[in-house]
Amino acid sequence: MKIVIGNDHTAVDMKLAIKAHLQERGIEVTDVGTDTSESCDYPIYGEKIGKAVASGEADLGIAICGTGVGISIAAGKVKGIRTCVCSEPCTARFSRMHNDSNVLAFGARIIGTEMAVMITDAWLDARYEGGRHQRRIDQLTEIENR
Ligand code: RB5
Repeated sequence: MKIVIGNDHTAVDMKLAIKAHLQERGIEVTDVGTDTSESCDYPIYGEKIGKAVASGEADLGIAICGTGVGISIAAGKVKGIRTCVCSEPCTARFSRMHNDSNVLAFGARIIGTEMAVMITDAWLDARYEGGRHQRRIDQLTEIENR
C-alpha cells in the first residue's frame, strides 16, 4: 500500500504525526509537502495529491489544511478523485465502504492529532463494498466525462 500525503502551512505537525503513524502500519508514504509554516496555497498540494492517486503512483491520498475543505476541493478537481472531509471516524469509514473515497481530508484547525489518527485508521481499515454502490460511482464518473 502506498499513500501520498500533503498539507498546507497550517498542518505540518499533524502531517508529520499521520505520516509516522502510516509508516508504523507498514505503509509506504510519499510526502509532497509543505514542510514549513511559511504561508502557502493549498491548491498546489491538493493537486499534487490528486494527481499522484489518479495516476496510480499512490493507492490513496491524505490531504490536510486548516479545515480540510480547501485542499479536498483542490484534490477533487483531478479526474477520478473522490474526496472526503472528516471530523470523525464514522464518515471516513462509510466514505470508503459506499463512496470508494480515494482521498481523505481533515482540518488541523478543527480536530486534534489523536482524532486524526482514529479517522485515518477507520478509513484504512474499511473496504469498498461495490455492488449497488458501483452504479453510483459510475454515475460520478459520468459527471466528470460530461
Ligand atoms: C489557510 O489560512 C486556510 O484558509 C486553509 O488552511 C484552509 O483551511 C482552507 O480551506
